[in-house]
Amino acid sequence: MMSNKGQILAVDDTPANLKVISEILRNAGYAVSTAIDGERAIKRLQHYQPDLILLDISMPGIDGFETCRRLKADRNTSHIPVIFLTALSDTVNKVKGLELGGVDYITKPFEQAELLARIKVHIDLKKAQLQLIQESKLSMLGELVARIAHEINNPMTFIYTNINYAAQYHEELIHLLELYEAQFPTPSQEIEDWREEIDLSFLKQDYLQLLESMRLGAERIKGIVVSLRSFAKLDEAEWKLSNLHEGLKDTLMLLSYRLQGNSCREAVKVVKNYGELPLVYCNPAQLNQVFMSLLMNAIEAIDEKHSNSAAAAEEAILECPQIVISTASEIVDGKNLACIHVADNGIGIPETIQAQIFEQFFTTKSTGKGTGLGLAIAKQIVTEKHEGTITYTSELGKGTKFTIAIPIDRKNLS
Ligand SMILES: Nc1ncnc2c1ncn2[C@@H]1O[C@H](COP(=O)(O)OP(=O)(O)OP(=O)(O)O)[C@@H](O)[C@H]1O
Ligand SMILES: [Mg+2]
Repeated sequence: MMSNKGQILAVDDTPANLKVISEILRNAGYAVSTAIDGERAIKRLQHYQPDLILLDISMPGIDGFETCRRLKADRNTSHIPVIFLTALSDTVNKVKGLELGGVDYITKPFEQAELLARIKVHIDLKKAQLQLIQESKLSMLGELVARIAHEINNPMTFIYTNINYAAQYHEELIHLLELYEAQFPTPSQEIEDWREEIDLSFLKQDYLQLLESMRLGAERIKGIVVSLRSFAKLDEAEWKLSNLHEGLKDTLMLLSYRLQGNSCREAVKVVKNYGELPLVYCNPAQLNQVFMSLLMNAIEAIDEKHSNSAAAAEEAILECPQIVISTASEIVDGKNLACIHVADNGIGIPETIQAQIFEQFFTTKSTGKGTGLGLAIAKQIVTEKHEGTITYTSELGKGTKFTIAIPIDRKNLS
């Protein structure tokens, strides 16, 4: 039962009340589910995340206050706004309800228009909150990236330029040594011993190789700094015509440490089936964040498959961990779209959670590992900011393929 206005869980021990409330909400375009007491409501919420909860207070078993306290104490439900809907109209109870974390308190009998207006306010507030979290996450990321890039860049320049001097001084000292050798062909025993001790001919050769590998390392770090800067698009205006393949390249560069092999699996093979993509009018920093979320999820799904059980590991040995990124421009319903597919051969998404993965704070990862915001933010960026679509197909145990489609010719819209 989908509704684009939002989903509401109504909790009340009187079936007649539930019926009336459900009817009002459904007529107003909300999807409604119900529970007849607090314990059942809490149980339902383990598998379902409504946008708002309407909660009666006087109920058998745990009352509305206690239900609200438990919901607010649980990380998975604490963010869902709770409105108390009750016959208890005295101030003491109102204050108690608000202190327990309720966002509003409506007394029965209620005015239909007022109920709907208040619900709308809180659902809109929740949407605005996600928007704020997304924006602050983006700007925090941008700032952090800029700081790191700056911090690394300066010392890196010392190393990089000094390698040239080190090579030049080495050459000059060796030349001096050769002059000594030519003009004093019979050195003392002490000099002979030391020359042998340090293996002079090896040292001369190895020193240059060592400088060369330092130079390569320094160049690689410089490349990462460039990627960090362009990943956050710090140097550029927000909305512009840009090359999505560049964004994918920067994102993959930043993820290279996660793609490497680890104790559970070999390195993830990244296959790029890139087609022709025109420049797309978009916000590249935001789209990079979408690529990052999809690729991180793909890597995590692969990691989970390979570290899960011994049986899964055995099966997994047969197949190399792989992410396929394909791009193409397609015309759908007369609209010119840039399509990007990210397919992994990880654990796949169980059907039971397929309806939830785009919900904010929905995560199957352990505490501290996932915030459950990756796909919620990706969806907002793709559908709301870029007027595109994000979809996926998944097969349990086999893998998942996400597809984003961004309209190409939006230049005149923004
Ligand atoms: N490629 C995938 N393969 C399997 N499951 C996935 C994949 N992408 C997403 N999921 C499922 O969807 C859930 C939500 O994903 P989302 O990116 O929103 O949050 P997260 O990865 O758990 O945390 P965060 O991205 O905020 O660190 C994941 O916890 C996971 O269960
Ligand atoms: Mg994620």
